[in-house]
Amino acid sequence: MSKASIAIIGTGIAGLCAARTLHDAGQTVHLFDKSRGSGGRMASKRSEAGSLDMGAQYFTARDRRFTEAVRQWQTEGWAEQWSPNLFQARDGQLAPSADEQLRWVGTPSMGAITGGLLGDLPVTFSCRITEVFRGEEYWTLVDADGASHGPFSQVIIAVPAPQAAALLATAPKLAAVAASVAMEPTWAVALGFAAPLNTTLEACFVQDDALDWIARNRSKPGRDGHLDSWVLHGTSGWSRQHLDLAKEAVTERLLGAFAELIDCVVPAPEFTLAHRWLYARPTQAHEWSALADARLGLYACGDWCLSGRVEGAWLSGQEAARKLLENL
Ligand code: FAD
Ligand code: NAI
Repeated sequence: MSKASIAIIGTGIAGLCAARTLHDAGQTVHLFDKSRGSGGRMASKRSEAGSLDMGAQYFTARDRRFTEAVRQWQTEGWAEQWSPNLFQARDGQLAPSADEQLRWVGTPSMGAITGGLLGDLPVTFSCRITEVFRGEEYWTLVDADGASHGPFSQVIIAVPAPQAAALLATAPKLAAVAASVAMEPTWAVALGFAAPLNTTLEACFVQDDALDWIARNRSKPGRDGHLDSWVLHGTSGWSRQHLDLAKEAVTERLLGAFAELIDCVVPAPEFTLAHRWLYARPTQAHEWSALADARLGLYACGDWCLSGRVEGAWLSGQEAARKLLENL
């Protein structure tokens, strides 16, 4: 019988980092994702306003290993620096807020990085895993349509904590750790204007009642589309309070807050899109790197194991793969 492969649930940056690391170490992996494409919270949306980064906006690299990976992505042409004309808002007033921080984005869209990492690794999309169980020797996954997938020698669960908890039932201790993590929602709204807005602002930390962040999507390197595209994020608190508000109403409210804050006339947008991220960010950082039950061959990783950022997710995926390889 040929060697059973390793199942990885989740094609966000954590799952993909684990998959690439294992593949490079000679292991056979198979990825699953409930979405139609890869990237998770780092994915971009193709639209008539060009590609839009609705989730992660940019990332910073502070850890040496991650910095090396980002340089590699840059060499591959998947990532570039983004140095927006940066502002912050204080008491409803905009003030320039330039700094020395290096900020990176995927090119020509955020999804280029996760797409590049996925490459031709075997993957099953539109497949929501609902159960992960172990027989005498091997693991089997069951999806929402009742289909079984396997056998697998090991499983890495790389999904947000509340979703991971349900899939970790075979390892109650790991499930309890995942279940202890609270994650906050974020409403994201994209706007596309026919003519460029008359402002030099390209990004702004707002962090007031409703708006958390504003980005001129079009100012990122390599973005296409004929509209002047912007992305607005609601704060965690506002998003939680308005979790079930209709998308049209969310768009209207965040557009209103944007128009009130920005220092130029804001005409009616040609294009709007709203997306609700239910599990956008963990309420706090942790220092778990990745969860492991080496005896069972079950691992969990994701941004919630470290910092709720792209870097934290990547490092966690790296650690899950390292722990797995250590126990082969
Ligand atoms: P995810 O990207 O969530 O990947 C998990 C994957 O698992 C998803 O593709 C999902 O479809 C899949 N999945 C879930 N359940 C199942 C299941 N049962 N079966 C199959 N598949 C499943 N970070 C930064 O560093 N900088 C930023 O500017 C930034 N801004 C952000 C803005 C927003 C609005 C959001 C939402 C996040 C932002 N982040 C930012 C955080 C960053 O996006 C995340 O930390 C990182 O992308 C998480 O990666 P991950 O692989 O851990 O999880
Ligand atoms: P970073 O170092 O650019 O920002 C970290 C934080 O420092 C910012 O949130 C902001 O409060 C502050 N800050 C940084 N530079 C500033 C400046 N020039 N002027 C004013 N304030 C400044 O990036 P890092 O540490 O990589 O963080 C990633 C970003 O992703 C954060 O802004 C975070 O809020 C955001 N994020 C958003 C999520 C969401 O769901 N909306 C989820 C996860 C991260």
